[in-house]
Amino acid sequence: MKDILEQLEERRADARLGGGQARIDAQHGRGKLTARERIDLLLDEGSFEEFDMFVAHRCTDFGMEKQRPAGDGVVTGWGTINGRLVYVFSQDFTVFGGSLSETHAQKICKIMDMAVQNGAPVIGINDSGGARIQEGVASLAGYAEVFQRNIEASGVIPQISVIMGPCAGGAVYSPAMTDFIFMVKDTSYMFVTGPDVVKTVTNEQVTAEELGGAVTHTRKSSVADAAFDNDVEALAEVRRLVDFLPANNREKPPVRPFFDDPNRIEASLDTLVPANANTPYDMKELIHKLGDEGDFYEIQEDFAKNIITGFMRIEGRTVGVVANQPMVLAGCLDIDSSRKAARFVRFCDCFEIPILTLVDVPGFLPGTSQEFGGVIKHGAKLLFAYGQATVPMVTVITRKAYGGAYDVMASKHLRSDFNYAWPTAEVAVMGAKGATEIIHRADLKDPEKIAQHTKDYEDRFANPFVAAERGFIDEVIMPHSTRKRVARAFASLRNKKVVTPWKKHDNIPL
Ligand code: HXC
Repeated sequence: MKDILEQLEERRADARLGGGQARIDAQHGRGKLTARERIDLLLDEGSFEEFDMFVAHRCTDFGMEKQRPAGDGVVTGWGTINGRLVYVFSQDFTVFGGSLSETHAQKICKIMDMAVQNGAPVIGINDSGGARIQEGVASLAGYAEVFQRNIEASGVIPQISVIMGPCAGGAVYSPAMTDFIFMVKDTSYMFVTGPDVVKTVTNEQVTAEELGGAVTHTRKSSVADAAFDNDVEALAEVRRLVDFLPANNREKPPVRPFFDDPNRIEASLDTLVPANANTPYDMKELIHKLGDEGDFYEIQEDFAKNIITGFMRIEGRTVGVVANQPMVLAGCLDIDSSRKAARFVRFCDCFEIPILTLVDVPGFLPGTSQEFGGVIKHGAKLLFAYGQATVPMVTVITRKAYGGAYDVMASKHLRSDFNYAWPTAEVAVMGAKGATEIIHRADLKDPEKIAQHTKDYEDRFANPFVAAERGFIDEVIMPHSTRKRVARAFASLRNKKVVTPWKKHDNIPL
């Protein structure tokens, strides 16, 4: 018996070495952790339980039968993050460059199936040279099996991808269909075709980092949600993110202990909005002052900064925040901000996370680039996402809510539950100057008359009361009491249920 136990230990030790010490050293030399080190950092200490440690590939072409390392380039299993169940796979670059074979894919599929059955998030750590070249179409089939599971799991369990090395070709489409993508600066990249192919086809000279590095994908393409300096930081942030999320679409997000009075009064908010309507202010200040302990977990911080998306907690419960940022493009909605916010709203709605919307929006950004780029369709995404959401929704208009953007930003008409406005709110079709120049075009040459018309328009519409008279605003509230009002509103909505008519699925403008 002793021998048998020792043999098992030897086999295990061998499997844990992956592609061998030399390749592990090379991995470390690049500033990267190994697949197992990453799992150890991601999960609670000692909580990892591995599946399929001894699975080996079945390929017999190109001499592959002579090298059949245990595990086949991916470590899979389950464990906990702050005591909550998660499933994980972590590609091992030291084994055939982490490339995906038929059996490698089967290991990933097995834990994805278990995650869906047991209602727990899947976290995928990607570090791979793509399809196992020696296996040909069997490897492509393996990818497609993973893709199909990504699609079926979407909206059922949270799926998080962490890119910690190469992720190229069709392989990018698995992370692309997950809910969040994190990348590590300088060591990870994602692209459909790499720099060499780009050079051949388009004659563009570009490095892998420029084409598909973490900075490119968090600032330009918005493929990724966050970029971090190293593996350790990225994994710590995944743990923080998971804390905000429910385990699946049938459970509420976890309730965390909180030490911040929900009735806290914030006197400084009474002076947050500047006297001059065109002077910007930082909407993040309001966000930090509303959430428990000032904590805010921002999603896509470096992309479309004219809108802010992220998670806070109120009374220990997760709330998704969407807020116009007057500091950038005056808080206008445009293509990028509409897409960013629409996807976030839909994530929250899938997973029963209530949505707080903070509005200061002068309208949609004008211009040919916006129109040619399809701002009509992209803006419609946000409108559609809000109109479709059935989670508790609370909206606070701090200043401008003009035109179509007023409708889009979780207005009463899109079935938001509580619509509050600060006394500084201006709910109107457009700003006073623009409005006057249209309806009093005949007086355009008379500055005195125009000034008077503008003042008349401001007196009539540059306030929240016209909307409040119609019930489009439920209450005009004191800025200093916003946290209390929002907390009470969400508390009253905890049992909200909306029944929608049956349909196969909608046809959101894409
Ligand atoms: C089999 C692979 C592999 C692959 C790397 N290796 N990629 N083995 N299939 N796809 C092996 C290498 O042979 C090498 O083995 C080890 O992994 C490390 O690779 P290196 O090249 O030494 O590492 P590095 O210099 O860091 O370069 C990494 C790399 C490069 C940029 C990823 O290996 C590369 O270009 N690989 C091929 C990428 C590719 O074309 N993949 C197919 C894409 S198409 P040894 O034994 O020497 O350590 C695709 C389609 C998916 O993925 C479609 C889904 C629908």
